[in-house]
Amino acid sequence: MLRRLFQRSGSKPATAPCFVDIHCHILHGVDDGAASLDHSLRMARLAEAGGIGRMIATPHRKATGLGREQIQSRVTQLNAQLKKEGIELELFPGAENHLLLTPVEELVPLGEGPYLLTEAPASHLGTQARELLEQISSAGYRPILAHPERNASVLADPGCLSSLVEAGLMLQLTAGSLTGNFGPRIRHCAWHLIKKGLVQFVASDGHCCNHRPPTLKAAYDALHKFGGEPLARRLLVENPTRVLEGASLDV
Ligand SMILES: [Fe+2]
Repeated sequence: MLRRLFQRSGSKPATAPCFVDIHCHILHGVDDGAASLDHSLRMARLAEAGGIGRMIATPHRKATGLGREQIQSRVTQLNAQLKKEGIELELFPGAENHLLLTPVEELVPLGEGPYLLTEAPASHLGTQARELLEQISSAGYRPILAHPERNASVLADPGCLSSLVEAGLMLQLTAGSLTGNFGPRIRHCAWHLIKKGLVQFVASDGHCCNHRPPTLKAAYDALHKFGGEPLARRLLVENPTRVLEGASLDV
């Protein structure tokens, strides 16, 4: 199974498919992402140019306090602007829910659900992570942990995630982590998680157009080179599409 999963594709070049980005801070003026409408539009053009066709807008829930209806409203407004500008990128509502600071009743899922993007404190995963994840699952959501490769607890002991993944947690790596944008230690951790078969999604976590851009092609190429087209497509196209559709993952 693993051999088939990570089968190398030789020198066959990677053909860019239409990516689905499930994590991006493209809504302006709500968190540490886009600062203005102009910034949102520049991010959208960059995403479109890099082959992203659909994207879930995921403002931080701890910082914004925006509810689901407010996020939907802002997404609708920005989609109208994208159409006006001729940018072929479709946005969907979502959020990045802080694992410790967001009450279960205030959680905002990705699209129509049931998938839910969560973030843990950067310094640690939290000893109560399992209990909180069980609460989220009991509420009918399917939790996805954002960028575990940048979490201090995971960097110290990547194996700490295995039992959580076995319990139903899914993992989303940041595309830039795989290509070294956050340094060699995070890059090593990201690839370790890939090699262990623990990762279901790769997303941009885009915040701006320069140091944290909404781009996925470089990560796709790196995954294609490492494990072939099936692996790259599953993490950047197929599983993210199932999130948008609210469908089960083929894992
Ligand atoms: Fe994020």
